[in-house]
Amino acid sequence: MRVAMIGTGYVGLVSGACFADFGHHVTCVDKDSDKINSLNSGIVPIYEPGLGEVVGTNLRDGRLTFSTDLAESVRMSDAVLIAVGTPSRRGDGHADLSFVYAAAREIATALAGFTVVITKSTVPVGTSDEVERIIREVNPTADFAVVSNPEFLREGAAIRDFKHPDRIVIGTEHSRAKEAMAELYRPLYLNAAPILYTTRRAAELIKYAANALLATKITFINEIADLCEKVGADVQDVARGVGLDNRIGSKFLHPGPGFGGSCFPKDSVALIKTAHDYDVSLRIVEAMVGVNEARKRAMARKVAAALGGSLRGKIIAVLGLTFKPDTDDMREAPSIALITALQDMGARVRAFDPAGMEQAKKILTDVIYTEGPYECAEDAEALVIATEWEQFRALDLTILKQVMARPVVVDLRNVYRYDEMSRHGFAYSSVGLGTYPPGRLEPSPILAPAS
Ligand SMILES: NC(=O)c1ccc[n+]([C@@H]2O[C@H](COP(=O)([O-])OP(=O)(O)OC[C@H]3O[C@@H](n4cnc5c(N)ncnc54)[C@H](O)[C@@H]3O)[C@@H](O)[C@H]2O)c1
Repeated sequence: MRVAMIGTGYVGLVSGACFADFGHHVTCVDKDSDKINSLNSGIVPIYEPGLGEVVGTNLRDGRLTFSTDLAESVRMSDAVLIAVGTPSRRGDGHADLSFVYAAAREIATALAGFTVVITKSTVPVGTSDEVERIIREVNPTADFAVVSNPEFLREGAAIRDFKHPDRIVIGTEHSRAKEAMAELYRPLYLNAAPILYTTRRAAELIKYAANALLATKITFINEIADLCEKVGADVQDVARGVGLDNRIGSKFLHPGPGFGGSCFPKDSVALIKTAHDYDVSLRIVEAMVGVNEARKRAMARKVAAALGGSLRGKIIAVLGLTFKPDTDDMREAPSIALITALQDMGARVRAFDPAGMEQAKKILTDVIYTEGPYECAEDAEALVIATEWEQFRALDLTILKQVMARPVVVDLRNVYRYDEMSRHGFAYSSVGLGTYPPGRLEPSPILAPAS
């Protein structure tokens, strides 16, 4: 099959490269010529484990090409996927669909022969209807069908997720489009990946509902972690005990500094806005968004508490900046609100991230960026672990203690255990650990039953 992928970002590049790996001839199109030039010379502009190899192999074998010429790529294709960004619209939080609609207009002028136009971007209910209307308006004689096929891959595990999806959701009632989608995903059909055929509107809503539910799970365990700290229970035990229930499951029950990233924050707000447009209020989602927003800044108060209340003039080292490990994506990373709040409280921030510093420098300017974790920790009065990169899981605690001005660690991802840190002479605070073992910083009272 000949495929055009419009938008060569995290989703477009990964899915384009994987479709080429399935044997299709794929052209990844982007209007960013720097991105296309670097891909054509074999340089992958984003950090995603395993992506370089898949891109390299398919580029060499001639199944994957990169272009800025949308019209030419669409003209030659049987399937055209729209994978452009749908960020929050400035001012009101609705999904900004201007990139999707601009792509639809351009696609319309170039369609030749029966073509399936697939919205892979995360788009609110009704967007694919509008894409169809636009194409028909621009090119009334075009032979096409619009399908909704939301993407569920996670950055950091994107190749695996794309090739071994929990499900593929295909929103169309058009029989020829269904056949084309079966052909596009044929290797996954053969692997018996669950395929859900539904309407376009249901497909669009499935993506938002799934993201909102996952974000709610994280936010729920974060609030339970806060309660654990007050009552003297270890949230990791609580999360495990809860997650072992098969009806609940153990994933997304890891407490931390609040969720961020390119999807959950904007998609949760966009879902609320869609619901309002239809006179429905999603109060659970609204509460979840508010709780998460407040939490990111609250983490700075946790750091202040670990240092006795004041951060003025103190050096704070932050390890991990990206919203999660194994990506360079800084969009809505909790580290942004955390560092801004630390600075508002008078702290001087040093930071290190294995892949995200280039992106971080565009957002957080008044920060000293360092070459590695130990340089970052130099002269710091507290070290904050904000993202659980693998390389932060086994720091040499002896060196760390030597270079720091004060041995204080605030572990917002619970990668260490209290007894280990305590053995190395660190004052240690984490998320949702109770008052055990005794001697933690700032112990909260264990509530005695009323006598
Ligand atoms: N990043 C993720 O983990 C993820 C996961 C699932 C779904 N999604 C959704 O997928 C969509 C894309 O997300 P992303 O993270 O890949 O975005 P991104 O910002 O990384 O990439 C989008 C790309 O589209 C290009 N573009 C915009 N308009 C174009 C046009 N008219 N022609 C050609 N190129 C154009 C941009 O230059 C950019 O390179 C979003 O709707 C997002 O919500 C993202």
